[in-house]
Amino acid sequence: MKILVATEKPFAPIAVTQIRELVEGSGNVLALLENYKSAPELLEAVADADALIVRSDLITPEVLDAAKKLKIVVRAGAGYDNIDISSCTDHKVVVMNTPGQNSNGVAELVFEMMLYQARSGFSGKSGTELRGKTIGLHAFGNVSKYVAEIARGFGMDVYSFDPFIGADVMRTAGVKVCTSKEELYSKCKYISLHLPLNDKTKKSIGYDLLKLLPHDGVLVNAARKEVIDEDGLLKIFAERNDIKYLSDGEPDSKAVFEAKYKERYIFTTKKMGAQTEEANINSGVAAAKQIVDYFATGNEKFRVNR
Ligand code: 3PG
Repeated sequence: MKILVATEKPFAPIAVTQIRELVEGSGNVLALLENYKSAPELLEAVADADALIVRSDLITPEVLDAAKKLKIVVRAGAGYDNIDISSCTDHKVVVMNTPGQNSNGVAELVFEMMLYQARSGFSGKSGTELRGKTIGLHAFGNVSKYVAEIARGFGMDVYSFDPFIGADVMRTAGVKVCTSKEELYSKCKYISLHLPLNDKTKKSIGYDLLKLLPHDGVLVNAARKEVIDEDGLLKIFAERNDIKYLSDGEPDSKAVFEAKYKERYIFTTKKMGAQTEEANINSGVAAAKQIVDYFATGNEKFRVNR
């Protein structure tokens, strides 16, 4: 079977080497389309692929139409909002993700952004410390578990709100349970977002929640830019000059932040939470294993479009 790794944002070379060893070692063929710049390149490359490994690459109905032999696509990562799930189902293509495999990289980036901001961008100006501060984890999935562990190491007071996760799971991780979003946003200086992007969460973080943040509140977004209602975010920025926004990836209204709110934001130029050798190896190799196993035994454990 031909397994295509199609990554607009490439994996670290060491991860590709390990994916190759696994794919070729199991008698399959590996093809690479890394760093591609346009959709037509992807359409051409998928034509004879039996399986696809992608990251945030857009898998649209057009891609699926072009991929006549495709049987399975694995998102090497957690969020599969980049994949048109119902179109995959219509095309009889199995979709899987690799939950948890890149979570530590994302959690560390949360702290890298928080520390950089707390120390005034390493400018020499006096900053603040994390010890004793409150952090609220909005949703308690795999990334949140790592964030909680690191936060506790820094001596932070950790809270979370997640209606889908049992309170005992949070308490076992040393996390205090909030029973509403409003309680979380009112209590915590730092809010770290860990929601998946879907129809319910899109633009769900806006003015009404952000206005509850305590003085000097910091919103940290290593999830998806689309969960933010940017009009609401800009409204609270205009009203309160103590609020900060740290985001993995640039918001649509980046130009407004640059023009009006210098020193109150950090935006990575490209989404890079999972852009570490470790995360690339873990998620890339897991994706390859899941494909090889699916072809060998039909294992659908990580299937998301049942
Ligand atoms: C994920 O959903 O796994 C992360 O956002 C990582 O995305 P990436 O593979 O595009 O870096």
